[in-house]
Amino acid sequence: MPARRRPLQLLAGTAALLFATGCAADAPMDALDPAGPYAQDIHNLFVPVFWVAVAVFVLVEGAIIFAAIRFRRRGPDDTAVPEQVHGNTRLEIGWTIVPALILAVIAVPTVATVMRINAQPDDPVVVNVTGVQWWWQFEYPDEGIVTANELHVPAGRPVWLRITSDDVIHSFWAPRLSGKRDAVPGRVHTWAIEADEPGRYKGQCTEYCGLSHANMRLVVVAHDEAGWDAWLAAMQQPPDPPTAGGAREGYELFGQFCASCHQVDGQWEEVLPDSPLSPNLTHLATRECFAGCIFDMTRVELEAWLRDPPGRKPMAPDDGRGMPNLGLTEAQIDALVDYLETLQ
Ligand code: CUA
Repeated sequence: MPARRRPLQLLAGTAALLFATGCAADAPMDALDPAGPYAQDIHNLFVPVFWVAVAVFVLVEGAIIFAAIRFRRRGPDDTAVPEQVHGNTRLEIGWTIVPALILAVIAVPTVATVMRINAQPDDPVVVNVTGVQWWWQFEYPDEGIVTANELHVPAGRPVWLRITSDDVIHSFWAPRLSGKRDAVPGRVHTWAIEADEPGRYKGQCTEYCGLSHANMRLVVVAHDEAGWDAWLAAMQQPPDPPTAGGAREGYELFGQFCASCHQVDGQWEEVLPDSPLSPNLTHLATRECFAGCIFDMTRVELEAWLRDPPGRKPMAPDDGRGMPNLGLTEAQIDALVDYLETLQ
Protein backbone atom coordinates (compact mmCIF):
# COMPACT_ATOMS: atom_id res chain seq x y z
CA MET A 1 0.00 0.00 0.00
CA PRO A 2 1.46 3.40 -0.90
CA ALA A 3 2.31 5.38 2.24
CA ARG A 4 0.22 8.37 1.17
CA ARG A 5 -3.00 6.31 1.24
CA ARG A 6 -2.59 5.30 4.87
CA PRO A 7 -4.07 8.49 6.37
CA LEU A 8 -7.14 8.05 4.18
CA GLN A 9 -7.62 4.46 5.27
CA LEU A 10 -7.16 5.46 8.91
CA LEU A 11 -9.74 8.20 8.50
CA ALA A 12 -12.23 5.84 6.84
CA GLY A 13 -11.67 3.23 9.58
CA THR A 14 -12.21 5.77 12.35
CA ALA A 15 -15.36 7.09 10.69
CA ALA A 16 -16.74 3.55 10.29
CA LEU A 17 -15.98 2.78 13.95
CA LEU A 18 -17.68 5.98 15.15
CA PHE A 19 -20.66 5.26 12.93
CA ALA A 20 -20.96 1.69 14.22
CA THR A 21 -20.69 2.65 17.90
CA GLY A 22 -23.20 5.43 17.38
CA CYS A 23 -25.90 2.87 16.61
CA ALA A 24 -27.35 0.65 19.32
CA ALA A 25 -30.47 -1.44 19.09
CA ASP A 26 -30.86 -1.50 22.86
CA ALA A 27 -30.19 2.03 24.14
CA PRO A 28 -32.19 2.59 27.33
CA MET A 29 -30.58 5.97 27.99
CA ASP A 30 -31.10 7.48 24.53
CA ALA A 31 -31.55 11.22 24.98
CA LEU A 32 -32.75 11.36 21.34
CA ASP A 33 -35.74 9.18 22.24
CA PRO A 34 -37.80 11.36 24.59
CA ALA A 35 -40.48 9.60 26.66
CA GLY A 36 -42.15 12.54 28.38
CA PRO A 37 -43.12 16.20 27.90
CA TYR A 38 -39.95 17.70 29.45
CA ALA A 39 -37.61 15.54 27.39
CA GLN A 40 -39.79 16.25 24.34
CA ASP A 41 -39.56 20.00 24.96
CA ILE A 42 -35.76 19.77 25.07
CA HIS A 43 -35.77 17.57 21.96
CA ASN A 44 -37.92 20.09 20.08
CA LEU A 45 -35.23 22.69 20.73
CA PHE A 46 -32.31 20.36 20.05
CA VAL A 47 -33.40 19.27 16.58
CA PRO A 48 -33.61 22.69 14.86
CA VAL A 49 -30.47 23.95 16.65
CA PHE A 50 -28.67 20.78 15.54
CA TRP A 51 -29.56 21.38 11.88
CA VAL A 52 -28.48 25.02 12.09
CA ALA A 53 -25.17 23.77 13.51
CA VAL A 54 -24.91 21.20 10.69
CA ALA A 55 -25.43 23.96 8.10
CA VAL A 56 -22.75 26.14 9.73
CA PHE A 57 -20.40 23.16 9.94
CA VAL A 58 -20.85 22.21 6.28
CA LEU A 59 -20.38 25.82 5.09
CA VAL A 60 -17.28 26.51 7.21
CA GLU A 61 -15.62 23.11 6.69
CA GLY A 62 -16.57 23.24 3.01
CA ALA A 63 -14.85 26.63 2.65
CA ILE A 64 -11.75 25.31 4.44
CA ILE A 65 -11.55 22.18 2.29
CA PHE A 66 -12.22 24.19 -0.89
CA ALA A 67 -9.44 26.66 -0.02
CA ALA A 68 -7.01 23.88 0.90
CA ILE A 69 -7.56 22.09 -2.40
CA ARG A 70 -7.95 25.08 -4.71
CA PHE A 71 -4.87 26.89 -3.42
CA ARG A 72 -2.65 23.90 -2.63
CA ARG A 73 0.99 23.68 -3.69
CA ARG A 74 1.05 22.04 -7.10
CA GLY A 75 4.30 20.06 -7.16
CA PRO A 76 7.95 20.81 -6.24
CA ASP A 77 8.27 23.57 -8.83
CA ASP A 78 5.32 25.54 -7.44
CA THR A 79 7.27 28.04 -5.34
CA ALA A 80 5.21 31.12 -6.09
CA VAL A 81 4.00 32.97 -2.97
CA PRO A 82 0.22 33.47 -3.10
CA GLU A 83 -1.24 36.93 -3.10
CA GLN A 84 -1.10 38.26 0.48
CA VAL A 85 -4.42 39.68 1.67
CA HIS A 86 -4.79 41.85 4.77
CA GLY A 87 -8.30 42.62 5.82
CA ASN A 88 -11.61 42.62 3.97
CA THR A 89 -14.11 44.91 5.62
CA ARG A 90 -17.22 43.50 3.97
CA LEU A 91 -16.30 39.89 4.77
CA GLU A 92 -15.35 40.73 8.35
CA ILE A 93 -18.58 42.59 9.03
CA GLY A 94 -20.47 39.72 7.42
CA TRP A 95 -18.94 36.95 9.51
CA THR A 96 -19.43 38.99 12.65
CA ILE A 97 -23.07 39.91 12.05
CA VAL A 98 -24.35 36.61 10.62
CA PRO A 99 -23.27 34.45 13.63
CA ALA A 100 -24.63 37.10 16.02
CA LEU A 101 -27.97 36.98 14.20
CA ILE A 102 -28.03 33.17 14.23
CA LEU A 103 -27.32 33.15 17.98
CA ALA A 104 -29.94 35.83 18.62
CA VAL A 105 -32.58 33.82 16.76
CA ILE A 106 -31.64 30.58 18.54
CA ALA A 107 -31.74 32.38 21.90
CA VAL A 108 -35.48 32.98 21.67
CA PRO A 109 -36.67 29.34 21.78
CA THR A 110 -33.73 28.43 24.03
CA VAL A 111 -34.67 30.87 26.77
CA ALA A 112 -38.34 29.96 26.42
CA THR A 113 -37.53 26.24 26.78
CA VAL A 114 -35.24 26.80 29.76
CA MET A 115 -37.99 28.75 31.52
CA ARG A 116 -40.66 26.13 30.73
CA ILE A 117 -38.66 23.12 31.91
CA ASN A 118 -37.58 24.90 35.10
CA ALA A 119 -41.06 26.00 36.15
CA GLN A 120 -42.71 24.18 39.03
CA PRO A 121 -45.61 22.16 37.57
CA ASP A 122 -49.14 22.09 38.98
CA ASP A 123 -49.99 19.26 41.32
CA PRO A 124 -46.70 17.37 41.09
CA VAL A 125 -45.53 14.36 43.08
CA VAL A 126 -42.71 15.77 45.24
CA VAL A 127 -39.58 13.68 45.78
CA ASN A 128 -36.49 14.68 47.74
CA VAL A 129 -33.51 13.24 45.89
CA THR A 130 -30.16 12.82 47.64
CA GLY A 131 -27.02 11.77 45.82
CA VAL A 132 -24.66 9.71 47.97
CA GLN A 133 -21.35 8.02 47.12
CA TRP A 134 -22.54 5.85 45.30
CA TRP A 135 -26.31 5.48 45.22
CA TRP A 136 -29.48 7.57 45.21
CA GLN A 137 -31.96 8.14 48.01
CA PHE A 138 -35.54 8.99 47.07
CA GLU A 139 -37.76 10.36 49.81
CA TYR A 140 -41.48 11.07 49.34
CA PRO A 141 -42.15 13.65 52.07
CA ASP A 142 -45.93 13.74 51.53
CA GLU A 143 -46.23 9.96 51.66
CA GLY A 144 -43.62 9.17 54.30
CA ILE A 145 -41.66 6.82 52.03
CA VAL A 146 -37.88 6.48 51.76
CA THR A 147 -36.32 4.22 49.15
CA ALA A 148 -33.13 3.85 47.13
CA ASN A 149 -32.05 3.72 43.48
CA GLU A 150 -35.56 3.08 42.10
CA LEU A 151 -37.59 6.25 41.67
CA HIS A 152 -41.24 5.27 41.40
CA VAL A 153 -43.55 7.78 39.73
CA PRO A 154 -47.04 7.87 38.24
CA ALA A 155 -47.07 8.05 34.43
CA GLY A 156 -48.68 11.14 32.94
CA ARG A 157 -48.15 13.28 36.01
CA PRO A 158 -45.24 15.66 36.66
CA VAL A 159 -42.75 14.81 39.37
CA TRP A 160 -40.99 17.64 41.15
CA LEU A 161 -37.53 16.61 42.31
CA ARG A 162 -35.76 18.50 45.08
CA ILE A 163 -32.19 17.41 44.51
CA THR A 164 -29.26 17.63 46.92
CA SER A 165 -26.15 15.67 47.89
CA ASP A 166 -24.87 14.11 51.10
CA ASP A 167 -21.19 14.40 50.17
CA VAL A 168 -19.73 15.53 46.82
CA ILE A 169 -21.35 16.91 43.68
CA HIS A 170 -23.40 14.36 41.74
CA SER A 171 -25.81 14.92 38.89
CA PHE A 172 -29.22 13.39 38.33
CA TRP A 173 -29.99 12.30 34.78
CA ALA A 174 -32.76 10.13 33.37
CA PRO A 175 -32.13 10.95 29.70
CA ARG A 176 -35.52 9.91 28.29
CA LEU A 177 -37.40 12.02 30.88
CA SER A 178 -35.49 15.31 31.02
CA GLY A 179 -32.04 16.89 31.11
CA LYS A 180 -29.45 16.82 33.88
CA ARG A 181 -29.54 18.52 37.27
CA ASP A 182 -26.56 18.72 39.61
CA ALA A 183 -26.86 17.42 43.17
CA VAL A 184 -24.79 19.81 45.26
CA PRO A 185 -24.20 19.48 49.02
CA GLY A 186 -25.83 22.28 51.01
CA ARG A 187 -28.13 23.27 48.16
CA VAL A 188 -31.47 22.11 46.81
CA HIS A 189 -31.89 22.17 43.04
CA THR A 190 -35.38 21.58 41.72
CA TRP A 191 -36.10 19.66 38.55
CA ALA A 192 -39.20 18.28 36.85
CA ILE A 193 -39.54 14.93 35.12
CA GLU A 194 -42.53 13.16 33.65
CA ALA A 195 -43.09 9.93 31.78
CA ASP A 196 -45.91 9.64 29.24
CA GLU A 197 -46.25 5.88 29.56
CA PRO A 198 -45.67 3.30 32.30
CA GLY A 199 -42.25 1.70 32.03
CA ARG A 200 -38.71 1.60 33.34
CA TYR A 201 -36.43 4.49 32.39
CA LYS A 202 -32.77 4.15 33.23
CA GLY A 203 -30.59 6.93 34.54
CA GLN A 204 -27.09 7.56 35.75
CA CYS A 205 -25.09 9.98 37.86
CA THR A 206 -23.51 12.25 35.30
CA GLU A 207 -21.03 14.26 37.36
CA TYR A 208 -17.74 12.52 38.13
CA CYS A 209 -17.93 11.81 41.85
CA GLY A 210 -15.16 9.35 42.69
CA LEU A 211 -14.34 5.65 42.50
CA SER A 212 -17.80 4.31 41.67
CA HIS A 213 -19.21 7.20 39.65
CA ALA A 214 -19.98 4.80 36.81
CA ASN A 215 -21.74 2.51 39.31
CA MET A 216 -24.15 5.20 40.50
CA ARG A 217 -27.14 4.33 38.40
CA LEU A 218 -30.87 4.64 38.93
CA VAL A 219 -34.10 3.63 37.33
CA VAL A 220 -37.34 5.61 37.13
CA VAL A 221 -40.29 3.22 37.34
CA ALA A 222 -43.44 4.82 35.93
CA HIS A 223 -46.76 3.22 36.94
CA ASP A 224 -50.26 3.45 35.58
CA GLU A 225 -52.79 4.90 38.00
CA ALA A 226 -53.73 1.62 39.69
CA GLY A 227 -50.09 0.54 39.89
CA TRP A 228 -49.10 3.84 41.46
CA ASP A 229 -51.79 3.63 44.14
CA ALA A 230 -50.82 0.03 44.84
CA TRP A 231 -47.13 0.94 45.14
CA LEU A 232 -47.87 3.78 47.58
CA ALA A 233 -50.07 1.55 49.71
CA ALA A 234 -47.51 -1.28 49.76
CA MET A 235 -44.66 1.07 50.64
CA GLN A 236 -46.59 2.55 53.54
CA GLN A 237 -47.09 -0.89 55.07
CA PRO A 238 -43.81 -2.07 56.66
CA PRO A 239 -43.12 -5.83 56.44
CA ASP A 240 -43.50 -7.92 59.59
CA PRO A 241 -40.35 -9.22 61.25
CA PRO A 242 -39.87 -12.95 60.61
CA THR A 243 -40.63 -15.17 63.57
CA ALA A 244 -38.94 -18.45 62.65
CA GLY A 245 -36.34 -20.26 60.58
CA GLY A 246 -33.37 -18.89 58.68
CA ALA A 247 -35.11 -15.58 58.13
CA ARG A 248 -35.43 -15.09 61.89
CA GLU A 249 -31.75 -15.93 62.27
CA GLY A 250 -30.99 -13.39 59.54
CA TYR A 251 -33.13 -10.83 61.31
CA GLU A 252 -31.00 -11.21 64.45
CA LEU A 253 -27.80 -11.02 62.38
CA PHE A 254 -29.11 -7.88 60.71
CA GLY A 255 -29.44 -6.29 64.15
CA GLN A 256 -25.88 -7.26 64.93
CA PHE A 257 -24.16 -6.32 61.65
CA CYS A 258 -26.36 -4.04 59.56
CA ALA A 259 -28.85 -2.08 61.65
CA SER A 260 -26.31 0.50 62.81
CA CYS A 261 -26.43 1.94 59.27
CA HIS A 262 -29.44 0.46 57.44
CA GLN A 263 -32.99 1.26 58.50
CA VAL A 264 -35.92 -1.12 58.06
CA ASP A 265 -39.16 0.68 58.93
CA GLY A 266 -41.09 -0.99 61.73
CA GLN A 267 -38.13 -3.27 62.53
CA TRP A 268 -34.81 -1.46 62.74
CA GLU A 269 -35.20 2.29 63.00
CA GLU A 270 -32.38 3.34 65.32
CA VAL A 271 -29.35 3.76 63.07
CA LEU A 272 -26.29 5.14 64.83
CA PRO A 273 -26.29 8.95 64.72
CA ASP A 274 -22.79 9.06 63.18
CA SER A 275 -23.40 6.30 60.65
CA PRO A 276 -23.04 7.21 56.97
CA LEU A 277 -26.29 7.75 55.08
CA SER A 278 -27.17 4.23 53.90
CA PRO A 279 -29.99 2.83 51.76
CA ASN A 280 -33.26 2.29 53.62
CA LEU A 281 -33.95 -1.42 53.11
CA THR A 282 -37.61 -1.53 54.19
CA HIS A 283 -38.98 -2.97 50.94
CA LEU A 284 -35.68 -4.14 49.51
CA ALA A 285 -37.07 -7.36 48.02
CA THR A 286 -39.57 -5.41 45.89
CA ARG A 287 -36.76 -3.58 44.08
CA GLU A 288 -35.26 -4.99 40.92
CA CYS A 289 -31.75 -3.69 41.49
CA PHE A 290 -29.42 -2.73 44.35
CA ALA A 291 -26.02 -1.18 45.15
CA GLY A 292 -26.46 1.86 42.93
CA CYS A 293 -28.70 -0.23 40.70
CA ILE A 294 -25.78 -2.16 39.24
CA PHE A 295 -26.89 -5.64 40.37
CA ASP A 296 -30.16 -7.48 39.78
CA MET A 297 -32.05 -8.26 42.97
CA THR A 298 -31.42 -12.00 42.94
CA ARG A 299 -30.33 -14.35 45.68
CA VAL A 300 -27.05 -15.07 43.90
CA GLU A 301 -26.21 -11.37 43.55
CA LEU A 302 -27.19 -10.55 47.13
CA GLU A 303 -25.00 -13.36 48.44
CA ALA A 304 -22.07 -12.28 46.27
CA TRP A 305 -22.54 -8.73 47.54
CA LEU A 306 -22.57 -9.70 51.23
CA ARG A 307 -19.45 -11.83 50.71
CA ASP A 308 -17.36 -8.81 49.71
CA PRO A 309 -19.07 -5.48 48.94
CA PRO A 310 -15.91 -3.48 48.12
CA GLY A 311 -14.80 -6.34 45.86
CA ARG A 312 -18.08 -6.15 43.92
CA LYS A 313 -18.14 -2.38 43.57
CA PRO A 314 -15.12 -0.07 44.02
CA MET A 315 -15.64 1.84 47.28
CA ALA A 316 -13.59 3.25 50.15
CA PRO A 317 -15.34 1.94 53.26
CA ASP A 318 -12.47 3.13 55.47
CA ASP A 319 -13.49 6.68 54.55
CA GLY A 320 -17.11 5.91 55.35
CA ARG A 321 -17.94 5.65 51.65
CA GLY A 322 -19.69 2.41 51.05
CA MET A 323 -20.20 -0.88 52.78
CA PRO A 324 -17.23 -2.70 54.33
CA ASN A 325 -16.52 -6.41 54.10
CA LEU A 326 -18.09 -7.70 57.32
CA GLY A 327 -16.31 -11.06 57.16
CA LEU A 328 -19.58 -12.99 57.23
CA THR A 329 -19.64 -16.79 57.09
CA GLU A 330 -21.58 -18.57 54.34
CA ALA A 331 -24.17 -19.63 56.93
CA GLN A 332 -24.60 -16.03 58.08
CA ILE A 333 -24.90 -14.84 54.47
CA ASP A 334 -27.57 -17.47 53.79
CA ALA A 335 -29.57 -16.42 56.83
CA LEU A 336 -29.22 -12.71 56.04
CA VAL A 337 -30.47 -13.21 52.49
CA ASP A 338 -33.36 -15.31 53.84
CA TYR A 339 -34.25 -12.29 55.94
CA LEU A 340 -33.73 -9.71 53.15
CA GLU A 341 -36.10 -11.72 50.96
CA THR A 342 -38.85 -11.17 53.53
CA LEU A 343 -38.61 -7.39 53.06
CA GLN A 344 -41.55 -7.25 50.65
CU1 CUA B 1 -22.37 10.46 41.65
CU2 CUA B 1 -21.07 10.50 39.68
